[in-house]
Amino acid sequence: MFAVTAARQDASDPLSGLELGEHAEPAPPDGWTTVTVRAAALNHHDVWSLRGVGLAADRLPMILGCDAAGVDEDGREVVVHAVIGDPAVAGGDETLDPRRSLLSERHDGTFAERLAVPRRNLVPKPAALTFEQAACLPTAYLTAYRMLFDRAGLEPGATILVQGAGGGVATALILLGRAAGFRVWATSRSEAKQARALELGADQAFESGARLPERVDAVMETVGEATWGHSLRSLKPGGTVVVCGATSGAMPAADLNRVFFLQLSVVGSTMGSRDQLARLTTFLEQTGVRPVIDRTLPLTQARDGFAALIDGNVFGKVVFTL
Ligand SMILES: NC(=O)c1ccc[n+]([C@@H]2O[C@H](COP(=O)([O-])OP(=O)(O)OC[C@H]3O[C@@H](n4cnc5c(N)ncnc54)[C@H](OP(=O)(O)O)[C@@H]3O)[C@@H](O)[C@H]2O)c1
Repeated sequence: MFAVTAARQDASDPLSGLELGEHAEPAPPDGWTTVTVRAAALNHHDVWSLRGVGLAADRLPMILGCDAAGVDEDGREVVVHAVIGDPAVAGGDETLDPRRSLLSERHDGTFAERLAVPRRNLVPKPAALTFEQAACLPTAYLTAYRMLFDRAGLEPGATILVQGAGGGVATALILLGRAAGFRVWATSRSEAKQARALELGADQAFESGARLPERVDAVMETVGEATWGHSLRSLKPGGTVVVCGATSGAMPAADLNRVFFLQLSVVGSTMGSRDQLARLTTFLEQTGVRPVIDRTLPLTQARDGFAALIDGNVFGKVVFTL
């Protein structure tokens, strides 16, 4: 079958290790099943894998991709939950299983014609969503859902700041946050992306690092070093920064004086549970919110999608179709 793999890793030239071509069919073990992939979304995770972060070199070649929507062995339309973990060892939340992995870390990922996954990782795809829209949910939209509705401890009406408005998680945060009744402010380095953030429903958009009209209840942080200082400075006393990623670097100055003096909370967040993915699909059905797709490409043109994401030249998700 056709697949897109990480064949080699290079921290400074991630595209050099990307290979497109024939790959062995999946062989699902007991309790697993095969999904025929109809659409798969690209995430920064796939670029990190090519750079050598989060994917062990001895597992190469590895089919990339965390996100997919497709058809199961019984012909049902499904969304694939990307977290491979055991909820029973982690108080019912597989994201807290110390042995959990994401598709494409230990098991082949979704950028292929067919994919093997545990049966429990299949969630029904709502008919109201296209395969392309549904493929955006398992990583970026689920991560945004958990940040906003589980980890941030917010009530509707709170003001949140979303850093790096153009990103896949960031656009999801704007859409879901707005639909849930938060006042949403966003930053971006690009004026065009600030304008798009307003179109999506952000109440105000600012240049990265700009002084805000007032401090916010919570900051949603995916950018890392480039925005971390601004995130801490933007919080009200007692505020929370929820961090799920660090695209620009993971070692900013901690600014501990500010953290303890203003009694700030720094909260990590990763992916979401299968049950949260199911609730997210209902949330989209009920609110009418639909994922923002920057571009849709056939999987055979995956290299172009990777290049756009690496260049930061996207607003919303890049989706591959089969
Ligand atoms: N923990 C999890 O479960 C989880 C899940 C999903 C993603 N992530 C992580 O979250 C991060 C974002 O993921 P994504 O897929 O949304 O990535 P993305 O689409 O590449 O978004 C990154 C955004 O960050 C901003 N940015 C990048 N470099 C910057 C810089 N030097 N200065 C200021 N802003 C910068 C850009 O926003 P502007 O151009 O608008 O400024 C860009 O659009 C990644 O690191 C990813 O690995 C983690």
